[in-house]
Amino acid sequence: MKSKTVDIYCFTGTGNTYLVAKKIANDLQDNGYLTNVKNMTKFEPQKIDLSHTIGIGFTVVFWNTFPVVKDFINSLPQGNNTEIFVFTTMGDFSLNAATNFGCILKNKGYDVIGAKDFLMPNNFIAIQKKEKNIFKIEKAYKKIEIFAKQLIDGNAKSCKTNLFFKFFFTITNFITNRWRIKIFQKIIKFDLNKDKCIKCKLCFEICPVKNIQIKNDYPIFKEMKCQLCMRCISYCPTHAIKSFLLHKTYTALSIDEIKKWSN
Ligand SMILES: Cc1cc2nc3c(=O)[nH]c(=O)nc-3n(C[C@H](O)[C@H](O)[C@H](O)COP(=O)(O)O)c2cc1C
Ligand code: SF4
Ligand code: SF4
Repeated sequence: MKSKTVDIYCFTGTGNTYLVAKKIANDLQDNGYLTNVKNMTKFEPQKIDLSHTIGIGFTVVFWNTFPVVKDFINSLPQGNNTEIFVFTTMGDFSLNAATNFGCILKNKGYDVIGAKDFLMPNNFIAIQKKEKNIFKIEKAYKKIEIFAKQLIDGNAKSCKTNLFFKFFFTITNFITNRWRIKIFQKIIKFDLNKDKCIKCKLCFEICPVKNIQIKNDYPIFKEMKCQLCMRCISYCPTHAIKSFLLHKTYTALSIDEIKKWSN
């Protein structure tokens, strides 16, 4: 990599992508790089420092990603050959999400030095047992070590795609448009069990897009800005947030860690 400083901009719902970003950062650090993992939602894309190598990491959502991540990527300035790598985390399969977004960045003038999807525990509907999740994370960590080494050596896979993936990317882009995610939110619909809610306001504090309001000490879940990231429902300490579709939840970080990340 040309620059010895690497800034990784990350969006994570329940912590998987943060774990992967941290692991890439640590592996690069062990090889003499200065690395920063930054919360994408706290940065204006137009103001990122293009003199550093950039990493972009995010969750796979309906084989694509969240509207807020797409807005970030689409609003990045022209690349002028800045080195960039893209990674995602997925629960099952991604239809080449990292590569597809890598291609967008390549067209913006970035030098895409790597694009990779990492299999991590599923945080949506098909949630598996703890042991299986630990196994998945350990396996992903081994793949991340290889990816970090490839980035350093300049031989990570970049973004060659084909018509099949391009076609599906167009469809998944359509599905994950801001207004359609809002429709999914309406269908999934979060309800509050007031008997269980301890009015701790954690959900309000950690929502990455400030979609939750507090009224008379209780949270109100609007659909307007919701990305369906699962953070509020997964981290609620008393499981007071319900949806008829979501019977199990998954978290990769502790409450303190997700709070720290959100602030
Ligand atoms: C609304 C939603 C849709 C998802 N769609 C997919 C998908 O299409 N393919 C997949 O492999 N995983 C999918 N997942 C699972 C996540 O991509 C996966 O668990 C990811 O590692 C979560 O990362 P995070 O904790 O950083 O948000 C979806 C998760 C959510 C919340
Ligand atoms: S995190 Fe749970 S318990 Fe706390 S305010 Fe939100 S819904 Fe209520
Ligand atoms: S309301 Fe919940 S699911 Fe929606 S964006 Fe906020 S934290 Fe994520």
